[in-house]
Amino acid sequence: MRVALLVPAAGSGSRLGYTEPKALVDVVGVSLLRRTLERLAAAFTFVETVVLVPDEALSACEAALADAPAGLGLCVVRVGGATRQQSVHEGLTALVGDADIVCVHDGARPLVPAATLREVIAVASRCGAATAASRPIDSVRIEEGERTRALDRARLWLVETPQAFRRELLERAHATAEAEHIHGTDDASLVEALGQRIELVESAGPNFKVTVEADLLAVREMLRRESCPTRR
Ligand code: C5P
Repeated sequence: MRVALLVPAAGSGSRLGYTEPKALVDVVGVSLLRRTLERLAAAFTFVETVVLVPDEALSACEAALADAPAGLGLCVVRVGGATRQQSVHEGLTALVGDADIVCVHDGARPLVPAATLREVIAVASRCGAATAASRPIDSVRIEEGERTRALDRARLWLVETPQAFRRELLERAHATAEAEHIHGTDDASLVEALGQRIELVESAGPNFKVTVEADLLAVREMLRRESCPTRR
């Protein structure tokens, strides 16, 4: 099995409230993007990796990844698009090798559990398409006209990354989405639009996306504890 990795990290991170791009924000001495990539490379050996970053951060990200972890394989940095979907599309077109599985993981999820990454890839190679997901902690309601209605939490999943797909499926999904002007919130929804079933893999630990400053503070604390387990 030959697996390529795409890492969309081209978001502005405006909700974080920093002037620098989110990818370059410090997380205990290392940029957020590098943290995520080191985590992925420690868990799996990819044949190649394309990292998508904002235009204005291209040279800084290239410098930060000059000595990319070996597990990423051939690693290149490219400018992403205006939307996450466009960034992933750019990444797909930048692949040069003959990977048969493509894994997509948000640059802003630095805590991805190793077991979850491996399981998502294994399930995708067996079944075609898989995504990490977790159960909602809070109760969930849906708007219906003027009212709201409680949903059955036991049947709901929050979709995360990593997501992995047979390469042919993901390429076809993006080509179809472009031709038919479909905008999906993630790659699984684009692949699902082809009629493909999406398998869910429950995340084996916290895997949240750093979006607001509280997320960043939580990630920093978790990583400090990981490196010093006796600290509480
Ligand atoms: O904005 P959102 O939270 O959906 O971003 C998820 C991931 O997609 C982040 O890692 C972000 O950097 C990336 N992204 C991207 N290109 C964009 C917007 C978001 O690569 N235009």
